[in-house]
Amino acid sequence: MKILVIGAGGREHALAWKLSESAGVEEVYVSPGSLAMTDVASVIPAQNDMDYVELAKELNIDLTVAGPETVLVDGLADKFAEAGLPFFGPSAKAARIEGSKTFAKNFMKKYHIPTAGYEAFTDEKDAIQYVKEQNYPLVIKADGLAAGKGVIIAQNEEAAVDAIHNMMAGLAFNGAGKQIVIEEFMSGEEASILAFCDGKNVVPMLSSQDHKRIGNNDTGANTGGMGAYAPAPIITDALSETIYQQILKPVVDAMQAEGHPFIGCLYAGLMITEDGPKVVEFNCRFGDPETEAVLPLLDGDLANIMMSCVQGTLNEKDVTWKNGYAVDIVLATNGYPEAHSKDDKIEGIKQAENLGCHVFHAGTTLKDDGFYTSGGRVLNVVACGSTLEESRKKAYEGVSKIYWEGMQYRSDIAMKGIARLKNRKKNC
Ligand code: AMP
Ligand code: GLY
Repeated sequence: MKILVIGAGGREHALAWKLSESAGVEEVYVSPGSLAMTDVASVIPAQNDMDYVELAKELNIDLTVAGPETVLVDGLADKFAEAGLPFFGPSAKAARIEGSKTFAKNFMKKYHIPTAGYEAFTDEKDAIQYVKEQNYPLVIKADGLAAGKGVIIAQNEEAAVDAIHNMMAGLAFNGAGKQIVIEEFMSGEEASILAFCDGKNVVPMLSSQDHKRIGNNDTGANTGGMGAYAPAPIITDALSETIYQQILKPVVDAMQAEGHPFIGCLYAGLMITEDGPKVVEFNCRFGDPETEAVLPLLDGDLANIMMSCVQGTLNEKDVTWKNGYAVDIVLATNGYPEAHSKDDKIEGIKQAENLGCHVFHAGTTLKDDGFYTSGGRVLNVVACGSTLEESRKKAYEGVSKIYWEGMQYRSDIAMKGIARLKNRKKNC
Protein backbone atom coordinates (compact mmCIF):
# COMPACT_ATOMS: atom_id res chain seq x y z
CA MET A 1 0.00 0.00 0.00
CA LYS A 2 1.19 3.53 -0.81
CA ILE A 3 0.01 6.29 1.48
CA LEU A 4 0.00 10.07 1.13
CA VAL A 5 -0.19 12.19 4.29
CA ILE A 6 -1.13 15.84 3.80
CA GLY A 7 0.30 18.36 6.25
CA ALA A 8 3.59 19.49 7.73
CA GLY A 9 3.52 19.49 11.54
CA GLY A 10 4.28 17.21 14.46
CA ARG A 11 0.94 15.46 14.04
CA GLU A 12 1.74 14.58 10.43
CA HIS A 13 5.25 13.42 11.37
CA ALA A 14 3.67 11.07 13.93
CA LEU A 15 1.04 9.86 11.43
CA ALA A 16 3.71 9.21 8.78
CA TRP A 17 5.88 7.36 11.30
CA LYS A 18 3.05 5.13 12.53
CA LEU A 19 1.82 4.44 8.99
CA SER A 20 5.37 3.53 7.93
CA GLU A 21 5.29 0.79 10.60
CA SER A 22 2.18 -0.85 9.08
CA ALA A 23 2.99 -4.25 7.61
CA GLY A 24 1.25 -3.69 4.27
CA VAL A 25 2.68 -0.21 3.63
CA GLU A 26 5.47 -0.08 1.07
CA GLU A 27 5.85 3.72 0.90
CA VAL A 28 4.61 6.78 2.78
CA TYR A 29 4.67 10.22 1.14
CA VAL A 30 4.10 13.47 3.04
CA SER A 31 3.21 16.76 1.39
CA PRO A 32 4.18 19.51 1.98
CA GLY A 33 5.93 17.79 4.94
CA SER A 34 9.31 18.93 6.13
CA LEU A 35 12.80 17.58 5.63
CA ALA A 36 12.76 16.06 9.11
CA MET A 37 10.17 13.57 7.89
CA THR A 38 12.53 11.87 5.44
CA ASP A 39 13.33 9.47 8.30
CA VAL A 40 9.97 7.77 7.68
CA ALA A 41 8.56 9.13 4.40
CA SER A 42 9.28 10.65 0.99
CA VAL A 43 8.64 14.37 1.20
CA ILE A 44 6.91 16.25 -1.62
CA PRO A 45 7.46 19.96 -0.93
CA ALA A 46 4.65 22.48 -1.51
CA GLN A 47 4.17 23.92 -4.96
CA ASN A 48 1.86 26.72 -6.00
CA ASP A 49 -1.68 25.45 -6.54
CA MET A 50 -0.80 21.96 -5.37
CA ASP A 51 -3.45 19.56 -6.71
CA TYR A 52 -3.49 16.65 -4.28
CA VAL A 53 -5.89 14.58 -6.40
CA GLU A 54 -3.45 14.76 -9.33
CA LEU A 55 -0.52 14.01 -7.00
CA ALA A 56 -2.29 10.94 -5.60
CA LYS A 57 -2.97 9.72 -9.16
CA GLU A 58 0.62 10.31 -10.28
CA LEU A 59 2.05 8.44 -7.29
CA ASN A 60 -0.49 5.59 -7.45
CA ILE A 61 -1.56 6.31 -3.89
CA ASP A 62 -3.87 3.74 -2.28
CA LEU A 63 -4.94 5.93 0.65
CA THR A 64 -4.62 9.66 1.34
CA VAL A 65 -4.78 10.92 4.93
CA ALA A 66 -5.47 14.57 5.74
CA GLY A 67 -3.80 16.17 8.76
CA PRO A 68 -5.11 19.75 9.01
CA GLU A 69 -8.73 20.89 9.20
CA THR A 70 -8.38 23.63 6.56
CA VAL A 71 -8.19 21.24 3.59
CA LEU A 72 -11.13 19.24 4.94
CA VAL A 73 -13.36 22.26 5.53
CA ASP A 74 -12.43 23.36 1.99
CA GLY A 75 -13.72 20.06 0.55
CA LEU A 76 -10.63 18.00 -0.27
CA ALA A 77 -12.41 14.76 0.72
CA ASP A 78 -15.17 15.61 -1.77
CA LYS A 79 -12.62 16.09 -4.57
CA PHE A 80 -11.07 12.69 -3.81
CA ALA A 81 -14.53 11.11 -3.72
CA GLU A 82 -15.36 12.58 -7.14
CA ALA A 83 -12.13 11.11 -8.49
CA GLY A 84 -12.94 7.73 -6.86
CA LEU A 85 -9.79 7.79 -4.71
CA PRO A 86 -9.71 6.49 -1.09
CA PHE A 87 -9.39 9.34 1.41
CA PHE A 88 -9.31 9.32 5.23
CA GLY A 89 -11.11 12.48 6.34
CA PRO A 90 -14.66 13.88 6.34
CA SER A 91 -16.48 15.68 3.53
CA ALA A 92 -16.87 19.46 3.71
CA LYS A 93 -20.43 19.01 4.96
CA ALA A 94 -19.32 16.68 7.79
CA ALA A 95 -16.28 18.89 8.55
CA ARG A 96 -18.64 21.75 9.46
CA ILE A 97 -18.62 20.20 12.92
CA GLU A 98 -15.26 21.98 13.28
CA GLY A 99 -15.54 24.63 10.55
CA SER A 100 -18.57 26.39 12.02
CA LYS A 101 -19.17 26.74 15.75
CA THR A 102 -22.78 27.74 15.02
CA PHE A 103 -23.31 24.55 13.02
CA ALA A 104 -21.67 22.46 15.76
CA LYS A 105 -23.74 24.02 18.56
CA ASN A 106 -27.04 23.75 16.65
CA PHE A 107 -26.20 20.14 15.78
CA MET A 108 -25.48 19.30 19.43
CA LYS A 109 -28.71 20.97 20.53
CA LYS A 110 -30.76 19.11 17.91
CA TYR A 111 -29.33 15.73 18.92
CA HIS A 112 -29.19 16.34 22.70
CA ILE A 113 -25.41 16.05 22.91
CA PRO A 114 -24.26 17.59 26.24
CA THR A 115 -22.54 20.96 25.80
CA ALA A 116 -22.59 24.49 27.24
CA GLY A 117 -25.79 26.51 26.76
CA TYR A 118 -25.36 29.15 24.01
CA GLU A 119 -26.78 31.72 21.64
CA ALA A 120 -25.52 32.38 18.09
CA PHE A 121 -25.35 35.91 16.65
CA THR A 122 -24.83 37.55 13.29
CA ASP A 123 -25.59 41.07 14.52
CA GLU A 124 -23.17 42.93 16.78
CA LYS A 125 -25.86 45.01 18.50
CA ASP A 126 -27.91 41.92 19.40
CA ALA A 127 -24.81 40.23 20.81
CA ILE A 128 -23.92 43.27 22.92
CA GLN A 129 -27.48 43.51 24.23
CA TYR A 130 -27.35 39.80 25.15
CA VAL A 131 -24.14 40.00 27.19
CA LYS A 132 -25.61 42.79 29.35
CA GLU A 133 -27.96 40.23 30.91
CA GLN A 134 -25.54 37.34 31.46
CA ASN A 135 -23.50 35.96 34.33
CA TYR A 136 -19.71 35.94 34.06
CA PRO A 137 -17.32 34.49 33.01
CA LEU A 138 -18.83 34.14 29.55
CA VAL A 139 -17.23 32.50 26.52
CA ILE A 140 -17.22 34.30 23.15
CA LYS A 141 -16.32 32.23 20.08
CA ALA A 142 -15.71 33.20 16.47
CA ASP A 143 -17.81 30.98 14.20
CA GLY A 144 -15.15 30.02 11.64
CA LEU A 145 -11.68 28.49 11.75
CA ALA A 146 -9.33 30.70 13.74
CA ALA A 147 -6.33 28.40 14.29
CA GLY A 148 -7.24 27.85 17.93
CA LYS A 149 -7.34 31.57 18.67
CA GLY A 150 -11.04 32.32 18.20
CA VAL A 151 -12.12 31.88 21.83
CA ILE A 152 -12.21 34.64 24.43
CA ILE A 153 -13.18 33.98 28.04
CA ALA A 154 -14.64 37.30 29.16
CA GLN A 155 -14.58 38.00 32.90
CA ASN A 156 -16.94 40.98 32.70
CA GLU A 157 -19.25 42.87 30.38
CA GLU A 158 -16.58 45.29 29.18
CA ALA A 159 -14.30 42.43 28.06
CA ALA A 160 -17.25 40.70 26.40
CA VAL A 161 -18.23 43.81 24.44
CA ASP A 162 -14.61 44.29 23.34
CA ALA A 163 -14.35 40.68 22.17
CA ILE A 164 -17.64 40.89 20.29
CA HIS A 165 -16.61 44.09 18.56
CA ASN A 166 -13.19 42.76 17.57
CA MET A 167 -14.66 39.56 16.18
CA MET A 168 -17.74 40.92 14.48
CA ALA A 169 -16.16 43.91 12.85
CA GLY A 170 -13.90 41.33 11.19
CA LEU A 171 -10.88 42.84 12.91
CA ALA A 172 -9.70 39.54 14.31
CA PHE A 173 -9.17 36.04 12.90
CA ASN A 174 -9.42 37.03 9.21
CA GLY A 175 -13.14 37.55 9.43
CA ALA A 176 -13.83 34.14 11.05
CA GLY A 177 -15.84 36.03 13.68
CA LYS A 178 -18.45 37.71 11.51
CA GLN A 179 -20.76 35.20 13.15
CA ILE A 180 -20.21 34.37 16.79
CA VAL A 181 -21.40 31.99 19.47
CA ILE A 182 -21.71 33.12 23.09
CA GLU A 183 -21.81 30.28 25.57
CA GLU A 184 -21.84 29.61 29.27
CA PHE A 185 -18.56 28.96 31.02
CA MET A 186 -18.03 25.33 32.05
CA SER A 187 -15.86 24.43 35.06
CA GLY A 188 -13.93 21.20 35.21
CA GLU A 189 -10.91 19.46 33.78
CA GLU A 190 -10.50 19.06 30.02
CA ALA A 191 -9.73 15.86 28.13
CA SER A 192 -9.61 14.83 24.49
CA ILE A 193 -11.08 11.78 22.80
CA LEU A 194 -10.06 11.00 19.24
CA ALA A 195 -12.14 8.36 17.49
CA PHE A 196 -11.91 6.39 14.26
CA CYS A 197 -15.14 6.67 12.25
CA ASP A 198 -16.28 4.83 9.13
CA GLY A 199 -19.54 6.70 8.61
CA LYS A 200 -21.57 4.19 10.67
CA ASN A 201 -19.25 2.89 13.38
CA VAL A 202 -17.10 4.80 15.83
CA VAL A 203 -14.16 3.37 17.77
CA PRO A 204 -12.59 5.66 20.39
CA MET A 205 -8.82 5.80 20.72
CA LEU A 206 -7.10 6.05 24.11
CA SER A 207 -8.08 9.21 25.95
CA SER A 208 -5.56 12.04 26.21
CA GLN A 209 -5.09 15.45 27.76
CA ASP A 210 -3.69 18.54 26.08
CA HIS A 211 -2.05 21.50 27.90
CA LYS A 212 -3.33 24.56 26.07
CA ARG A 213 -1.83 27.41 28.08
CA ILE A 214 1.76 28.54 27.65
CA GLY A 215 2.65 28.47 31.36
CA ASN A 216 2.86 25.89 34.13
CA ASN A 217 -0.35 25.30 36.10
CA ASP A 218 -2.40 26.36 33.07
CA THR A 219 -1.45 30.03 33.21
CA GLY A 220 -0.83 32.59 30.46
CA ALA A 221 -1.93 32.73 26.84
CA ASN A 222 -3.71 29.96 24.95
CA THR A 223 -1.46 28.10 22.51
CA GLY A 224 -1.80 25.34 19.93
CA GLY A 225 -0.93 22.94 22.78
CA MET A 226 2.25 22.65 24.89
CA GLY A 227 2.15 18.93 25.58
CA ALA A 228 -0.10 15.93 26.03
CA TYR A 229 -0.27 12.54 27.65
CA ALA A 230 -2.27 9.36 27.13
CA PRO A 231 -4.27 7.69 28.46
CA ALA A 232 -5.75 10.39 30.73
CA PRO A 233 -6.69 8.92 34.15
CA ILE A 234 -9.60 11.37 34.44
CA ILE A 235 -11.38 9.30 31.77
CA THR A 236 -12.43 6.22 33.72
CA ASP A 237 -14.05 3.22 32.02
CA ALA A 238 -17.46 4.43 33.17
CA LEU A 239 -16.84 7.90 31.69
CA SER A 240 -15.61 6.34 28.44
CA GLU A 241 -18.89 4.50 28.13
CA THR A 242 -20.89 7.70 28.81
CA ILE A 243 -18.82 9.59 26.23
CA TYR A 244 -19.42 6.86 23.66
CA GLN A 245 -23.17 6.65 24.32
CA GLN A 246 -23.93 10.36 24.80
CA ILE A 247 -21.44 12.01 22.46
CA LEU A 248 -19.54 9.93 19.90
CA LYS A 249 -22.25 7.52 18.77
CA PRO A 250 -24.94 10.22 18.49
CA VAL A 251 -22.63 12.36 16.30
CA VAL A 252 -21.87 9.54 13.90
CA ASP A 253 -25.51 8.37 13.80
CA ALA A 254 -26.82 11.90 13.22
CA MET A 255 -24.25 12.69 10.51
CA GLN A 256 -25.23 9.50 8.72
CA ALA A 257 -28.96 10.23 9.12
CA GLU A 258 -28.43 13.73 7.69
CA GLY A 259 -26.69 12.28 4.64
CA HIS A 260 -23.13 13.40 5.52
CA PRO A 261 -21.50 10.33 7.07
CA PHE A 262 -18.43 11.17 9.12
CA ILE A 263 -15.39 9.27 7.85
CA GLY A 264 -12.03 9.95 9.46
CA CYS A 265 -10.95 11.02 12.92
CA LEU A 266 -13.55 12.72 15.08
CA TYR A 267 -12.01 14.72 17.92
CA ALA A 268 -14.15 15.54 20.94
CA GLY A 269 -12.68 18.22 23.22
CA LEU A 270 -14.47 17.64 26.52
CA MET A 271 -14.96 19.37 29.84
CA ILE A 272 -15.47 16.84 32.61
CA THR A 273 -17.92 18.79 34.76
CA GLU A 274 -19.73 17.87 37.96
CA ASP A 275 -22.71 17.04 35.74
CA GLY A 276 -20.69 14.71 33.52
CA PRO A 277 -18.77 15.16 30.25
CA LYS A 278 -19.75 18.10 28.04
CA VAL A 279 -18.41 19.03 24.62
CA VAL A 280 -16.15 22.10 24.44
CA GLU A 281 -15.51 21.63 20.73
CA PHE A 282 -15.40 19.06 17.99
CA ASN A 283 -12.55 18.84 15.51
CA CYS A 284 -12.77 16.96 12.24
CA ARG A 285 -9.20 15.59 12.35
CA PHE A 286 -6.47 14.28 14.61
CA GLY A 287 -5.54 16.61 17.49
CA ASP A 288 -2.13 18.13 17.86
CA PRO A 289 -0.27 17.45 20.21
CA GLU A 290 -2.58 14.57 21.34
CA THR A 291 -1.80 12.45 18.25
CA GLU A 292 1.91 12.39 19.09
CA ALA A 293 1.06 10.83 22.49
CA VAL A 294 -1.77 8.51 21.39
CA LEU A 295 -0.28 6.87 18.26
CA PRO A 296 2.85 5.42 19.93
CA LEU A 297 0.45 3.39 22.11
CA LEU A 298 -1.55 1.96 19.18
CA ASP A 299 -0.92 -1.76 18.94
CA GLY A 300 -2.96 -2.29 15.79
CA ASP A 301 -2.05 -1.51 12.20
CA LEU A 302 -2.90 2.15 11.52
CA ALA A 303 -3.03 1.82 7.72
CA ASN A 304 -5.45 -1.12 7.97
CA ILE A 305 -7.65 0.68 10.48
CA MET A 306 -7.79 3.79 8.29
CA MET A 307 -8.56 1.74 5.22
CA SER A 308 -11.41 0.03 7.09
CA CYS A 309 -12.79 3.50 7.94
CA VAL A 310 -12.79 4.38 4.25
CA GLN A 311 -14.37 1.05 3.28
CA GLY A 312 -17.04 1.11 6.02
CA THR A 313 -15.74 -2.04 7.73
CA LEU A 314 -14.41 -0.62 10.99
CA ASN A 315 -16.74 -2.97 12.92
CA GLU A 316 -14.66 -5.90 11.65
CA LYS A 317 -11.39 -4.49 13.01
CA ASP A 318 -9.88 -4.89 16.45
CA VAL A 319 -8.36 -1.59 17.50
CA THR A 320 -5.96 -2.61 20.25
CA TRP A 321 -3.65 -0.59 22.48
CA LYS A 322 -0.40 -1.23 24.30
CA ASN A 323 -0.31 -1.11 28.08
CA GLY A 324 1.36 1.89 29.65
CA TYR A 325 1.43 5.61 29.00
CA ALA A 326 2.96 8.14 26.63
CA VAL A 327 3.99 11.73 27.42
CA ASP A 328 4.62 14.38 24.79
CA ILE A 329 6.50 17.59 25.68
CA VAL A 330 6.30 20.44 23.17
CA LEU A 331 9.41 22.60 22.76
CA ALA A 332 8.60 26.10 21.50
CA THR A 333 10.55 29.21 20.61
CA ASN A 334 11.03 32.30 22.65
CA GLY A 335 7.99 34.58 22.47
CA TYR A 336 5.52 31.88 21.35
CA PRO A 337 2.51 32.18 21.05
CA GLU A 338 2.51 35.95 20.42
CA ALA A 339 5.54 36.05 18.14
CA HIS A 340 8.34 33.66 17.52
CA SER A 341 12.03 33.85 16.89
CA LYS A 342 13.45 31.51 14.24
CA ASP A 343 16.61 30.26 12.65
CA ASP A 344 18.22 29.10 15.85
CA LYS A 345 20.41 26.01 15.60
CA ILE A 346 18.95 23.03 17.49
CA GLU A 347 21.34 20.73 19.33
CA GLY A 348 20.78 17.30 20.83
CA ILE A 349 17.93 15.72 18.82
CA LYS A 350 19.94 12.53 18.22
CA GLN A 351 20.87 12.28 21.90
CA ALA A 352 17.18 12.45 22.87
CA GLU A 353 16.37 9.75 20.29
CA ASN A 354 19.20 7.61 21.63
CA LEU A 355 17.45 7.63 25.01
CA GLY A 356 14.45 5.98 23.34
CA CYS A 357 12.34 9.13 22.80
CA HIS A 358 10.49 9.86 19.58
CA VAL A 359 11.18 13.38 18.35
CA PHE A 360 8.41 14.59 16.04
CA HIS A 361 9.16 17.84 14.22
CA ALA A 362 6.53 20.59 14.20
CA GLY A 363 8.56 23.54 12.93
CA THR A 364 12.14 22.92 11.79
CA THR A 365 14.23 23.45 8.68
CA LEU A 366 17.24 21.38 7.72
CA LYS A 367 20.50 23.06 6.75
CA ASP A 368 23.92 21.58 5.95
CA ASP A 369 24.91 21.53 9.62
CA GLY A 370 21.63 20.29 11.13
CA PHE A 371 18.13 21.39 12.14
CA TYR A 372 17.10 25.00 12.81
CA THR A 373 13.90 26.38 14.34
CA SER A 374 11.27 27.64 11.92
CA GLY A 375 7.95 27.63 13.78
CA GLY A 376 6.51 28.65 17.15
CA ARG A 377 6.11 25.04 18.21
CA VAL A 378 9.29 23.31 17.08
CA LEU A 379 9.60 19.76 18.43
CA ASN A 380 7.54 17.15 20.28
CA VAL A 381 9.59 14.90 22.53
CA VAL A 382 7.60 11.74 23.27
CA ALA A 383 8.38 8.85 25.59
CA CYS A 384 6.44 5.71 26.55
CA GLY A 385 6.70 3.76 29.78
CA SER A 386 4.76 1.38 31.95
CA THR A 387 3.64 4.16 34.33
CA LEU A 388 2.77 7.78 33.70
CA GLU A 389 5.63 8.85 35.98
CA GLU A 390 8.16 6.73 34.11
CA SER A 391 7.03 8.08 30.72
CA ARG A 392 7.18 11.63 32.01
CA LYS A 393 10.67 11.17 33.46
CA LYS A 394 11.96 9.67 30.23
CA ALA A 395 10.39 12.43 28.11
CA TYR A 396 11.99 15.16 30.26
CA GLU A 397 15.34 13.34 30.09
CA GLY A 398 15.00 13.55 26.31
CA VAL A 399 14.13 17.25 26.58
CA SER A 400 17.23 17.85 28.72
CA LYS A 401 19.43 16.77 25.80
CA ILE A 402 17.92 19.33 23.42
CA TYR A 403 18.94 22.95 23.33
CA TRP A 404 18.63 26.14 21.37
CA GLU A 405 18.83 29.77 22.40
CA GLY A 406 15.43 30.75 23.86
CA MET A 407 13.82 27.28 23.88
CA GLN A 408 10.75 27.20 26.14
CA TYR A 409 8.59 24.37 27.43
CA ARG A 410 6.27 23.55 30.31
CA SER A 411 7.75 21.54 33.13
CA ASP A 412 4.42 20.22 34.46
CA ILE A 413 3.16 18.10 31.56
CA ALA A 414 1.18 15.06 32.87
CA MET A 415 1.29 16.23 36.50
CA LYS A 416 -2.50 16.42 36.71
CA GLY A 417 -2.76 12.79 35.62
CA ILE A 418 -0.05 11.68 38.06
CA ALA A 419 -1.77 13.51 40.96
CA ARG A 420 -5.09 11.87 40.09
CA LEU A 421 -3.53 8.39 40.04
CA LYS A 422 -1.83 9.02 43.42
CA ASN A 423 -5.11 10.21 44.95
CA ARG A 424 -6.92 7.19 43.64
CA LYS A 425 -4.32 4.88 45.20
CA LYS A 426 -4.58 6.72 48.52
CA ASN A 427 -8.36 6.35 48.55
CA CYS A 428 -8.30 2.65 47.74
P1 AMP B 1 -12.09 25.79 21.65
O1 AMP B 1 -11.30 26.41 20.54
O2 AMP B 1 -13.56 25.85 21.48
O3 AMP B 1 -11.58 24.44 22.04
O4 AMP B 1 -11.72 26.64 22.95
C1 AMP B 1 -10.37 26.84 23.37
C2 AMP B 1 -10.28 26.69 24.87
O5 AMP B 1 -11.14 27.64 25.51
C3 AMP B 1 -10.77 25.33 25.37
O6 AMP B 1 -9.78 24.36 25.32
C4 AMP B 1 -11.17 25.65 26.78
O7 AMP B 1 -10.04 25.69 27.63
C5 AMP B 1 -11.72 27.05 26.67
N1 AMP B 1 -13.18 27.02 26.52
C6 AMP B 1 -13.88 27.00 25.37
N2 AMP B 1 -15.21 26.95 25.61
C7 AMP B 1 -15.35 26.94 26.95
C8 AMP B 1 -16.47 26.94 27.84
N3 AMP B 1 -17.72 26.96 27.37
N4 AMP B 1 -16.21 26.93 29.16
C9 AMP B 1 -14.96 26.94 29.64
N5 AMP B 1 -13.87 26.98 28.87
C10 AMP B 1 -14.05 26.98 27.54
N1 GLY C 1 -5.09 19.95 20.68
C1 GLY C 1 -6.02 20.85 20.16
C2 GLY C 1 -6.31 20.69 18.74
O1 GLY C 1 -5.76 19.84 18.07
O2 GLY C 1 -7.12 21.45 18.23
